[in-house]
Amino acid sequence: MSGAELAEETRTLVAAGLARLADAPSSAEVRSIESELLGKRSRLTEMKAGMRDLDAEDRRVLGAALNQARTELEAAAAERLDHLAARERRAVLAAERLDLTEYQGRASTGHRHLVTQTWERLEDVFVGMGFTVATGPEVETDWFNFEALNLPPSHPARSLWDTLYLDTTDLDGVGDQQLLLRTHTSPVQVRTMLRAVREGSGPPIYVVCPGRAYRQDTADATHLPVFHQIEMLVIDRGITMGDLSGTIETFTKAYFGQELTSRLRPSYFPFTEPSAEVDISQPDGSWLEVGGCGMVHPNVLRAGGLDPEEWSGFAFGFGIERLTMIRHHVTDIRDFITNDMRFLEQF
Ligand code: DAH
Repeated sequence: MSGAELAEETRTLVAAGLARLADAPSSAEVRSIESELLGKRSRLTEMKAGMRDLDAEDRRVLGAALNQARTELEAAAAERLDHLAARERRAVLAAERLDLTEYQGRASTGHRHLVTQTWERLEDVFVGMGFTVATGPEVETDWFNFEALNLPPSHPARSLWDTLYLDTTDLDGVGDQQLLLRTHTSPVQVRTMLRAVREGSGPPIYVVCPGRAYRQDTADATHLPVFHQIEMLVIDRGITMGDLSGTIETFTKAYFGQELTSRLRPSYFPFTEPSAEVDISQPDGSWLEVGGCGMVHPNVLRAGGLDPEEWSGFAFGFGIERLTMIRHHVTDIRDFITNDMRFLEQF
């Protein structure tokens, strides 16, 4: 065959190839057509290998045709790949698009989250009972979160809290203190005692400490890795377990109403002795646990700079989400964080 005839054949192959590439439904298909047309065993490669048997003029004509064929096919393949990638991206966007039209035209201007509302109501109730509000940091030292609460480094009860530790190796100046995300609001007890002693403002101490806590937990119907607690600390002379249960019962009636009541069930916490779980009665007669409580352990008083011979006290820690669920009949704690307007708008 002459160079001109062979060149004509390349144009036929290119025309057919361009048509197939333009219709290729997927990037995988584009790549397979490309290798079929330009790969080692393709007709174009075979023609290129045969060029050595042609005379100079035929070789020049065919060489130019083959170069053009390769350039055109490669460009068409690249263009088709771009087009398909854009189309796949549009499909992903369309699939992930949130249809918010049902919220258009609603009068809602937004409002505080139900958990925040509970937090504020709880502060109101406790301030009404004569308490002040104290806060502490969410990033804590191991000492405040555990050791000062009568949980030395090797204490087995540490495993009650699945702790998120911070890697501080790159934080120059932090020293060798182990930092963590507080697993409960109880460290604020110790901070409050130390502050009161330092500033000469107490005891007596009557505080509540609301705030966020963190645990390495998988979310399920009753657990979230980030949640809220409210801690109470009372330190005075001659405080007894009767004061503790009386305070919890007063709170229960003030927050939930006269129909509900509380009970204490013996339990164990390292920072209180004796310790108890607090349950709140349900309209159907069942009980739901809201937290723990007890008489402040002498070691905790000492860590707070107080003499256990002179002072005694009680403490409790309640889950704010738990209290919210009881009061508003929410059955899955995850509803608080999924941001479903149908849930949020009810409150
Ligand atoms: N800090 C405990 C927890 O998160 C709850 C708790 C128990 C707090 C007893 C207290 C207490 O103040 O006295 O599991």
